Amino acid sequence: MSDEPTLAEHTSADSGTASRADDRIDPFFVFDFHAYDEPDADSGTRWSTYWDLERLCRGPEPVPDWVVTDRAAVDTELGVLKTGKEADVFLLERAVEGGPSVVMAAKRYRSEEHRTFHRSSTYTEGRRTRNSRDARAMAKQTAHGRAVAAGQWAWAEWESLETLWSLGVPVPYPVQIDGTEILMELVTDGQDVAPRLAQTRPGRDLLASYFEQLRDAMAVLAGQGLAHGDLSPYNILTAGDRLVIIDLPQTVDIVANPTGTDFLMRDCHNVCTWFNARGLEVDEHALFGELLASAF
Ligand SMILES: Nc1ncnc2c1ncn2[C@@H]1O[C@H](COP(=O)(O)OP(=O)(O)OP(=O)(O)O)[C@@H](O)[C@H]1O
Ligand SMILES: [Mg+2]
Repeated sequence: MSDEPTLAEHTSADSGTASRADDRIDPFFVFDFHAYDEPDADSGTRWSTYWDLERLCRGPEPVPDWVVTDRAAVDTELGVLKTGKEADVFLLERAVEGGPSVVMAAKRYRSEEHRTFHRSSTYTEGRRTRNSRDARAMAKQTAHGRAVAAGQWAWAEWESLETLWSLGVPVPYPVQIDGTEILMELVTDGQDVAPRLAQTRPGRDLLASYFEQLRDAMAVLAGQGLAHGDLSPYNILTAGDRLVIIDLPQTVDIVANPTGTDFLMRDCHNVCTWFNARGLEVDEHALFGELLASAF
């Protein structure tokens, strides 16, 4: 028989040593250790990605108070808000344990093969890719090319949100962009997620006020030479008596894009048709003329 202890004896001998060592620890060095779960994808959590991103991928200054910028913040998936034709919008909470927290909208673009809708190339005329490898990949529709395209729509929407927010147009504050995911302000009516204009039946005064707000917003865009490009009562949210315009990956250059004015006319038609149907007399051609005048 060997003198070596068996595994069981070894273990118990070790733990005996360990417990004797514990007994000797000066209570001064003993502190309460609060173990909390590391964020992980399986539980729908991750560390806040805010500071991992380049400056250009974080929202414009001044950063509103409600944005949680703590490095120790954790992002938690709260589920799908709405699945769209080319992107899905999720609710995401960013919170610091025992500290500030906020629920944001996370818009995640799908790559081309997962879309139910393909934009016509008239939107993208004149858009440049970062490098010729990306351009070739997009032309050949490789997997990389499709990913680049999804990222480009996200980036296009990010840039519009940044520009328009900085110009004071009522759009959600863009918090950050990470590849194909944009985190932005969740528009609410104070309690619930804001309904789309299409679902509402405002009284006369509110209806008139909504139209004025929309006209002002469209005028600022036109002043920059831009049209929303897909404006409709489905891409306008009602935050109480305030309107907020969303879904901006396709803003069109009215001047440089040969069909830019067609997009502007369509935007005017879509919104005026809705206001007329709700009983406010507005003229799409008058609106179009007014906006065109601000563009040139
Ligand atoms: N910031 C936000 N705050 C509140 N709700 C939002 C926000 N962004 C998007 N939504 C909701 O998610 C829906 C889809 O968003 P969005 O229009 O930007 O994406 P989409 O993929 O173009 O969708 P669709 O195909 O329906 O137009 C909106 O109609 C709106 O109800
Ligand atoms: Mg939309």
